[in-house]
Amino acid sequence: MKTIDDLQCEGKTVLVRVDVNAPVTDGVAGDSPRFKEAAETIRELAGKKARVVVLAHQGRAGDADFIPLKQHAELLSKHTRKRVKYVDDLFGSKALSEIGRLKPGKILLLENTRFYAEETLAAPPEKLAQTIFVKTLASHAQAFVNDAFSAAHRGQASLVGFPELLPSYAGRVMAREYAAISKVAGAMERPVVFILGGAKPDDCFKLLKYAAENNKADYLLTSGVIGELCLIAEGKDMGAKRQWLEEKGYAKILPELEAFVKKHGAKIKTPVDFAYKDSDGIRAETDSAAGAPVFDIGSRTAKGYAEIIRRSRAVYFKGPVGAYEQPQFESGTRIVLKAIESSHAFSLMGGGHTMNALEKFGINKKKIGHVSTAGGAVIAFLSGEKLPAIEALEKSAQKTY
Ligand code: 3PG
Repeated sequence: MKTIDDLQCEGKTVLVRVDVNAPVTDGVAGDSPRFKEAAETIRELAGKKARVVVLAHQGRAGDADFIPLKQHAELLSKHTRKRVKYVDDLFGSKALSEIGRLKPGKILLLENTRFYAEETLAAPPEKLAQTIFVKTLASHAQAFVNDAFSAAHRGQASLVGFPELLPSYAGRVMAREYAAISKVAGAMERPVVFILGGAKPDDCFKLLKYAAENNKADYLLTSGVIGELCLIAEGKDMGAKRQWLEEKGYAKILPELEAFVKKHGAKIKTPVDFAYKDSDGIRAETDSAAGAPVFDIGSRTAKGYAEIIRRSRAVYFKGPVGAYEQPQFESGTRIVLKAIESSHAFSLMGGGHTMNALEKFGINKKKIGHVSTAGGAVIAFLSGEKLPAIEALEKSAQKTY
């Protein structure tokens, strides 16, 4: 694939897809290392006098973090040390007139791509290239740069549609991350431990299946939503949490997960204790998740997981293992990350929340093999899948426009 080293961008309007999908608390988008990473390519292109039009998504429809990108423009301004102007439109007249006015070296951030139905249309790249969204923006630009490695496993319009119509290039993050992941994925020494947590159980289940069925890992330590689903699959009572899992649509994998846990149970570890908030709002621990909503693994689970990590030679961490943003529920994630930091295992980790947790707990990144901005994209790659955004860039490199 081509990179921005191959792009003569001076005076050109360049669409730059980044991934600054950030943690959102009470409507406030938190700063995250993804902003710093994304700033590199944006700043470089602006420095080379391109007219930089940035595209990004935030959250998923229906979730509390599905918000406009106004705050993201402020955070990108901070990290690029240049003004990033925001427009609350993606391909309507407001957006197009801002693009038309953009001077060389200036940066514009368009609205959350997922606010528009065409972005998440399930269709192949050739079809997505024919959406009004992609066709309109492509007709106002001369090149497309994809720097959203952490969204590279999504075949969405803003990621795979533009390379059908515009010469396309990998940004710095995309090129660096893809090279690093390709290098490490095949070279993991045994025993290999995967630690899976966070709030995206579908991605985690995909990796669990691939790892177990292809003997890619020796221990599969679960936590977060996938941990809760595995516990149900083992026949444990999760109390009211089960209803929440059903409402969120996460429980739909349960029938398949039950069969999977029966077959591969020996490798799968689930939490044996949990932390919850007692009536005074203070952390308390319990052996059963049936009584109260749980927010972290308990201390016995954390100790057990840390012990397995210490004996391993390679670790992949897709965390966090609990609601680490809240001080009373940070200890599970802290203990697991500290165990990885002090182990001799080669470690690979990723995801927006993981990067934030590394900062929060002061983990020495030199002790970590590779820290990726990506969670799901790394999972997809480790699961043996092709990444649609990478395929689109590779196809573009062979194409004449
Ligand atoms: C991420 O945060 O992993 C990426 O931005 C992809 O987000 P998604 O899982 O909502 O597609």
